[in-house]
Amino acid sequence: MTTRNYPAMVTMPPGPRARAIVDRDRAWTSHSYIKEYPLVVARGEGAMVEDVDGNRYLDFMAGIAVASTGFGHPRVVSAVQEAASRFLHICGSDFYYESMAALCERLAKLAPGPTKKRVFLTNSGTEATEAAIKLARHSTRRTAMVAFHGAFHGRSTGAVSLTSSKARQHAGFGPLLPDVHHVPYAYRYRCAWCSRADRCGLACVDNIRADLFTRHVDPHDVAAIFVEPIQGEGGYIVPPDGFLRSLRELCDAYGILLVFDEIQCGIGRTGKMWACDHEGVEPDILLTAKGLGSGMPIGAMIARESIDRWQGGAHGSTFGGNPVCCAAALATLDAVETELMANAAAMGERLLHGARALMEKHAIIGDVRGRGLMVGIEFVRDRGTREPAPDVVRALVERAFSRGLLLLGAGKSALRLAPPLVVDAQDIDTGLGIIDECLAAGSR
Ligand SMILES: Cc1ncc(COP(=O)(O)O)c(C=O)c1O
Repeated sequence: MTTRNYPAMVTMPPGPRARAIVDRDRAWTSHSYIKEYPLVVARGEGAMVEDVDGNRYLDFMAGIAVASTGFGHPRVVSAVQEAASRFLHICGSDFYYESMAALCERLAKLAPGPTKKRVFLTNSGTEATEAAIKLARHSTRRTAMVAFHGAFHGRSTGAVSLTSSKARQHAGFGPLLPDVHHVPYAYRYRCAWCSRADRCGLACVDNIRADLFTRHVDPHDVAAIFVEPIQGEGGYIVPPDGFLRSLRELCDAYGILLVFDEIQCGIGRTGKMWACDHEGVEPDILLTAKGLGSGMPIGAMIARESIDRWQGGAHGSTFGGNPVCCAAALATLDAVETELMANAAAMGERLLHGARALMEKHAIIGDVRGRGLMVGIEFVRDRGTREPAPDVVRALVERAFSRGLLLLGAGKSALRLAPPLVVDAQDIDTGLGIIDECLAAGSR
């Protein structure tokens, strides 16, 4: 173990400077912001985040899986500075610049499968989803869409219609898009068909055909099925092998487009560039954002050329694919491809192994799952009944914060572990050690 200057707490957070900023923020910002806990950031470096009172934290949430290259990655920072010094904006929907062409070419070539792709750049994940809704409807001339329970695809009116994460994200906003149908995700631990069985028979996919497509909607009216290859906000749920392939077959049978939302699980986080690469399934449309720009706002819709048949002006964006964001994304991809993806695979193994060891020690842990640096730990009151224990997650996140570890919950009662892809073995062991201590303290 080398000596590290983090985690290191000099005052109980929120300290005096943090408290002043929290009060000011509360006076002026929209009530819609949740604010998970009073972390007030001053700067970051690698996997370390420092607050305005000088507390240094180990980051296991990366600003919700966004700070892929960590904080202040030299490659990303210098790419951003260099691009900013030349021009901040010219509007990629209307004019040309090299970084936009280069990023679209790069993403099209990186996307899974052999078919030629075309890329539309956005400012966020939500906008990538919105673009996919429009392109799917436009290219199929169908209107219905299928998404999964627990899904999170964004918050604009179209995207939030596909989201099925928390009722409050819909409350008061209706009517949302019509003809959106939600079906159960391959959530093995809580599956109505196979949670107690030895193996998964993918009954959830059969059910789409047998129930949804038989009783509720004609599959020939369905434009697209939207799915997260690993469900993020829903609880870091890794579906069984074969799930994506079965969805591909189902879509092919009815001419439905398959959209993979890799906004949270893509860009090397799982140890491969895309989470769907683990199953080798090619979608019709792939969505990315979050980690793509290391924190600069950029997302993309990557579609097969055969479906990108909309006319000029059908869709566009003033800021989407901004040159500074394109530079950040290109530098991020360089870092991910050359070093961080392999690190995510190796450190992810260590994290998963360590989380499983915690499960042996703490009966409150009901399930551990993950791929690469995307690990979910689900908490239950009782392993037999599997009753969720959301209060345990809340208390754990709070306790860890006061001890210098940044965590975040997901789903009803899971903890998501999503550190920056730059973490090393010492970071992983330190983080797991703090979680262990916090759980032990909680059971006393
Ligand atoms: C899988 C997934 N899709 C879409 C989104 C929406 O992205 P954004 O918040 O950038 O609009 C998120 C954000 O958490 C996400 O996790």
